[in-house]
Amino acid sequence: MLTDNLIDGRAIAQEVHAETESRVASLKLAGVEPSLMFIRVGEDPASKVYVGMKERTAARLGIRSDTTVLPENTPETGLLELLRKLNADASVHGVLVQAPLPVHIDETNVFSAVSPAKDVDGFHPLNAGKLMLGEGGGFVPCTPGGVHELLIRSGVTIEGADVVILGRGNIVGKPMAAILCQKAKYANATITLCHSRSRDVAKYCRRADIIIAAMGVAGFVKANMVKPGATVIDVGVNRVDDPAAEKGYRLVGDVDFAAVQPVAGKITPNPGGVGPMTIAMLMRNTVRAAEQQTDECAR
Ligand SMILES: NC(=O)c1ccc[n+]([C@@H]2O[C@H](COP(=O)([O-])OP(=O)(O)OC[C@H]3O[C@@H](n4cnc5c(N)ncnc54)[C@H](OP(=O)(O)O)[C@@H]3O)[C@@H](O)[C@H]2O)c1
Repeated sequence: MLTDNLIDGRAIAQEVHAETESRVASLKLAGVEPSLMFIRVGEDPASKVYVGMKERTAARLGIRSDTTVLPENTPETGLLELLRKLNADASVHGVLVQAPLPVHIDETNVFSAVSPAKDVDGFHPLNAGKLMLGEGGGFVPCTPGGVHELLIRSGVTIEGADVVILGRGNIVGKPMAAILCQKAKYANATITLCHSRSRDVAKYCRRADIIIAAMGVAGFVKANMVKPGATVIDVGVNRVDDPAAEKGYRLVGDVDFAAVQPVAGKITPNPGGVGPMTIAMLMRNTVRAAEQQTDECAR
């Protein structure tokens, strides 16, 4: 693999972790141990892996974390009751409910029940609204926040750039558009948000300075869809069958990496691009939640 145009998400995540660690140390000097509570409902294998990775990273950075695992058949009211307790617990600074939730639970109700001050995932409507309005002080969802940080720290010009975002999901595509369209430093981009009803996605991609693929369609972005020199960020995580792999499958992104890398100016590998940044931003949001709650108490 060529390396000269790679955006190394693992290395950039380490930079962010180092900054977070020093903020954790300052909090601890002030007698505050930042803490993050995970809630997992059921035994979804991917959720187990994701929560485990987040817990290990928290421990490495000195953030206390714990996971409550609820059975698959937990009623929505049971989950909401647990959230009320965690919201009221002053020793808990961040709360994360791992998606996907079982189908009988309404995710919107659940995300709205997390205190906005502890909403380190940035999914509460108040935080989503603040992001849309360009108001500071809210929590930005971790994956689009991580992509933004990758672009900034890789020296990609965002101001005035033609950005095509593939996917209008609430977790990645829409907040990504909200971040980059703001009248602000490291924003001021012109955004095209494509989705499954877009008529000619390739046409939009070909004129883009930056393509951010967050659709969940393996290898969708091909070399002939990318303007030479464009920056390509691959958010997608897709499972494809692979009899040669130990587990019988492997994970690939939304970008046909081997074909696109030689055309792109800069490109994220996948894995090793966006994924590590998602966790890094979660840790940073948690420390910010702890700092803000500590400041509130001091007032
Ligand atoms: N690396 C990470 O940390 C991370 C974090 C979160 C998500 N992800 C990955 O990012 C991807 C997107 O996640 P998400 O939660 O945003 O998904 P989502 O809510 O399901 O959104 C997918 C979007 O892609 C659009 N789409 C699907 N097929 C399309 C096609 N053929 N042409 C054009 N648009 C198409 C959908 O259009 P419609 O709206 O019209 O249906 C939708 O807007 C997934 O692969 C997910 O695993 C990665």
